[in-house]
Amino acid sequence: MSKRRILITSALPYINGIKHLGNLAGSMLPADVYARFQRLQGHDVLYICATDEHGTPAELAAQAAGMSVRDYCDEQHQIQRAAGDGFSLSYDWFGRSSSDENKILTQGFAHALEANGLIEERVSQQVYSVDDGRFLPDRYVEGTCPHCEYEKARGDQCDNCGRLLDPVDLKHPYSAVSGSTNIEIRDTAHLFLLQSKMQDRIREWVEASTDWPQLARSIALKWLDEGLRDRAITRDLKWGVPVIGPDGAVRPGFEDKVFYVWFDAPIEYIAATEEWASATGNDAKVWWRTEHGADDVEYVQFMGKDNVAFHTVSFPVTIFGSQQDWKTVDKLKAFNWVTWYGGKFSTSQQRGVFMDQALDLLPADYWRWYLMANAPEGSDAAFTWEGFQAAINSDLANVLGNFVNRITKYTVSKFDGALPAAGTQGEDEAWMESELKASLTRIAEHYEAMEFRKAAAETRALWATGNEYLTRAEPWVKYKSDVDGAAVGVRTGLNLVALFAIVAQPLIPNTAKTILDTLGIPEGNRKWPSPEDAGLLDALPHGMPIQAPPVLFQKIEDAMVEEWTERFGGEVS
Ligand code: 2FM
Ligand code: ZN
Repeated sequence: MSKRRILITSALPYINGIKHLGNLAGSMLPADVYARFQRLQGHDVLYICATDEHGTPAELAAQAAGMSVRDYCDEQHQIQRAAGDGFSLSYDWFGRSSSDENKILTQGFAHALEANGLIEERVSQQVYSVDDGRFLPDRYVEGTCPHCEYEKARGDQCDNCGRLLDPVDLKHPYSAVSGSTNIEIRDTAHLFLLQSKMQDRIREWVEASTDWPQLARSIALKWLDEGLRDRAITRDLKWGVPVIGPDGAVRPGFEDKVFYVWFDAPIEYIAATEEWASATGNDAKVWWRTEHGADDVEYVQFMGKDNVAFHTVSFPVTIFGSQQDWKTVDKLKAFNWVTWYGGKFSTSQQRGVFMDQALDLLPADYWRWYLMANAPEGSDAAFTWEGFQAAINSDLANVLGNFVNRITKYTVSKFDGALPAAGTQGEDEAWMESELKASLTRIAEHYEAMEFRKAAAETRALWATGNEYLTRAEPWVKYKSDVDGAAVGVRTGLNLVALFAIVAQPLIPNTAKTILDTLGIPEGNRKWPSPEDAGLLDALPHGMPIQAPPVLFQKIEDAMVEEWTERFGGEVS
């Protein structure tokens, strides 16, 4: 198989606050699982992510924390980086959208777009809060809905009647930042990206992208059917990428404005690659510029469904509109929501677990397993403590954990802690081998198709087949009358232990490592096994020393579920 070059990005988490398990499951975690799988296949993988640091929420969060935005972002970036490490997210680079690389690229894109007639300055009216001393983004203006008289309607939408609103139409508007009613409607100039001019180009591209998974494709087509609207790509804010002209000076009239966070955030995928390249002595162009060989790259993006329009329409308008030779996404995997018992995660209502809290409760692999086995692919997926408990106790502790412990401990006690060499494989082993080969093929196909739920289910099924093999081979029964026959079962079982761990690496990398380290499997022998290989079940050296790993998974007791339900919320009774 030839070596592929695979560029992977997961949607950049906003800087303001640590992410909850739903955010993790809908972008960073599946991207990591996919990256790990492709590395195991021997491909050249570059997995890039970063914090998304600009925008009003970051400014307001810093203000609430009594910090400068820069200091706040520095601190939060480190917190998110640590949470990513804690979950074993194997980023090749975890960058920052506030980097100099991103400023330069963002400004460069704006210049190219303007030179190509795709940017226009327009004056529009916006709500200005005199007491806050700032223009208010739509969702930070509240007031009375002009349609239904609901008094707490947000500027962008009324939660009571559901109508989309223009904040200047609200009656009795007030600032959601400070509550001030000292509000004026002021003219303000902004740069508009003329997306409407790119409608046909984008449609042609989306329609040609037939191997995008279904959810991303259908969302993209829905947006195109509604028609692309020109949109402002600057905002009246201080924190963000400054609007610098091609002459290197601030664009006149834009001294107090910056680029809109959604304009610069996806550009950070490229900028973060540049950050990585300069830190590691690599070349970002070979991943991103087609004239430098990036045509060979397979570019895969991971994101929640709310991000699809930005990645299939807005960012491609930037890329294509620049008329430069950028690499565009080849496959885009979108996810529905992980809900908390069918509802929203909420910090204020103490509903749901956030990344840092999760790691205080249990190791990363437990969460990784459940979140991927229960990935929100076909529809939203509810996190429940009961489902979590059942998955961990059954799949990890019983099916995998017991298998590994049983066979390794038996080797230690009955075969002097050495992989037994005696006996020859028979029918049971032939059956197991053919099951194994079919399973390896199916798991790999699911990963290639980015069907994580199916990949996890098939991985579990393989472990279960291993247990069935032991039931058929019965080494513990044979031992009494046929030690060589028992040796075959134990040897095959030990080979399965190694294979199960190798195959589990994308999902539960830390446990897999514990197993493989305990067995003493060298790093170079941990690659994805080829179903074509002969002797998969007799690959480990005869006589090699075998130790039993420590207990791999702690069972989740009912009392733990009760306590966590109390702390983090659960079924409303
Ligand atoms: O929805 C979000 O969390 C955004 N911060 C995602 C940005 S993805 C990319 F374009 F930067
Ligand atoms: Zn209303």
